[in-house]
Amino acid sequence: MAIAPDFLDEIRARVGLGDVIARHVSLRRAGRELTGLCPFHNEKTPSFTVSEEKGFFHCFGCGAHGDVIGFVMRQEGLSFPEAVERLAGEAGLEVPRATPEEREAAKRAATLHEVMERACRFFEGELQGPRGADARSYLARRGIDEETRARFRLGYAPDSKTGLRNAVMDGSHPEALLVEAGLLIRPDNGTPYDRFRGRVIFPIADRRGRVIAFGGRLLGDGKPKYLNSPDTPLFSKGRVLYGMATAREAAHRNGRVIVTEGYTDVIALNRAGFSESVAPLGTALTESHLHALWRMAPEPVLCFDGDAAGKRAAYRAAERAVPLLEPGRSLQFVTLPAGQDPDSLLADGGVEAVESCLEGRRDLFDLVWEMYTEGRRFDTPERVAGLEQTMERLVDRIDNRKVQHQYRTHFRQRVLRRFGPRWHGRRRNDTDGIRIPSGTPPEALPGSAVRHVVATLLRHPPLIEEFCERLADLEIGDGGVDALMRSILSLVHDAPGLDEAGLKGHLSGTDAELAESLLGADIYAQWRFAGPDATIEAARKGVSHALDGLGSTGVKADLAAAEMALANDPSPENVERFTKLKLAQLERLQGEDELLAEDPASGPAFGQLGRQS
Ligand code: UTP
Ligand code: MN
Repeated sequence: MAIAPDFLDEIRARVGLGDVIARHVSLRRAGRELTGLCPFHNEKTPSFTVSEEKGFFHCFGCGAHGDVIGFVMRQEGLSFPEAVERLAGEAGLEVPRATPEEREAAKRAATLHEVMERACRFFEGELQGPRGADARSYLARRGIDEETRARFRLGYAPDSKTGLRNAVMDGSHPEALLVEAGLLIRPDNGTPYDRFRGRVIFPIADRRGRVIAFGGRLLGDGKPKYLNSPDTPLFSKGRVLYGMATAREAAHRNGRVIVTEGYTDVIALNRAGFSESVAPLGTALTESHLHALWRMAPEPVLCFDGDAAGKRAAYRAAERAVPLLEPGRSLQFVTLPAGQDPDSLLADGGVEAVESCLEGRRDLFDLVWEMYTEGRRFDTPERVAGLEQTMERLVDRIDNRKVQHQYRTHFRQRVLRRFGPRWHGRRRNDTDGIRIPSGTPPEALPGSAVRHVVATLLRHPPLIEEFCERLADLEIGDGGVDALMRSILSLVHDAPGLDEAGLKGHLSGTDAELAESLLGADIYAQWRFAGPDATIEAARKGVSHALDGLGSTGVKADLAAAEMALANDPSPENVERFTKLKLAQLERLQGEDELLAEDPASGPAFGQLGRQS
């Protein structure tokens, strides 16, 4: 553009589209849009719509379409710069002058845009016409109705080498321009011919909704399933996301953008009400894609197939994003059931299926953790050190210092929690030299609550992995229950994926006896989540709730109570009670700080992290 895009956006923001159009057309509000009789063709019933939110007008009768500048151009017969000049004047802005090169490039781009728009209309027309019958029924079979077809401006490229060529090529749109636009293929020696033949056409729009490329899908099986425009002066695959223009407004409204893999996923998600959906065009996400996504929402949600390839793609996206993270700016990941894409998921399970996948989304940090630890053992100091080294290398690549620091501390903390000495049942005071009373006094944990938690974990082993950090942190007063907790934590760590029977089978001696008695107890009346009939969801809620009431908050409350008792009555019992609790608390804080002391940067912040107290 000769005129800076920012300046054009400024004009669009300052001049109300509805106001400008209302000078020429009598408009009525219809829901989120305005409608009226189209000024560009003769009609008796209104098919002209204006969306102020999107900044576009569109006529369903004649296909006229554009923004406020386009409207003024057509309505008043002005050229693009003239229309900009006029609107800028109205808005009290001055048009920045462009260099001759910029003007030249802009002119070429404008002609390319024009030819793309004409091609798009040709394809749209073909889909409605007699040659489009098969394509129409193909789309109908895929659940794409007429309204959706219009909204995404879907089209059909007839199975002919000259369909588009004959329809679009003329004096102002010569063959060379059509080739440059990627619409015609020029063979080494011979006549250029239509690139898209016998395919359903998905127009690809830029941020502002202008068509800049096409994707074409075969009606049946065959290769390639999709054919896309080549890169042109208007279109670069590595920068554009399908659905970007339609998703923008919804993304801002909902603070979210969903990234899928395909055209049909974006369309299906839109139909189901998730209009904040986009997809790259058959390539991995590039840096430029990520920046475009972050302009839409702070934590774009990436959906990937649950199979091995999907997992690889998720890891690749994570690797690419890590160096670019900034405070508040990250990614989230959704794993779809294996072999499903959002389109098929919606067809099979409806909106609820998608909602529930979205609810299970994971943070980038967790995904990266999984990427480095999954399926590997960290049961020796050397292996843990190896893990730390790999993570350090990744963290070093984060540009932003604040995020880098947080990643470093979070990784260390998690390594410590998961693979530190505590994991293997050895209490830190064994080696510390300071004598710490074994565990916290029983009153720190209501004994019956923790027993219910353990019973629940035995029934639903997946929860052990889910809650393992908080469980490993628990101070359990009852020595037997404590030992059982340590055993199940290590078992699940060493052999993930155990089920209830498997887990019980691995317990022995007093652990096994205690497990039996906990599971056999008929004390589940008030604690339904721990009972044999509770679903895993109920169990998860129950455990989470119980842990909220236990653990460090419990310790803190006890400490406060002990302090008060001591102030009122400094008896030896009260002194001892207070000292025990205080020491236990200090030990937990200090032990972690010591292990981290080799990096002074992470020292002070660390003690605060992830702590519920
Ligand atoms: P998929 O193979 O997952 O296709 O490719 P899809 O989107 O689910 O399409 P349907 O449901 O079979 O119609 C994902 C994306 O990869 C690109 C396209 O952008 C597609 O949407 N792709 C795929 C190509 O560019 N070329 C191909 O041959 C295949
Ligand atoms: Mn699909």
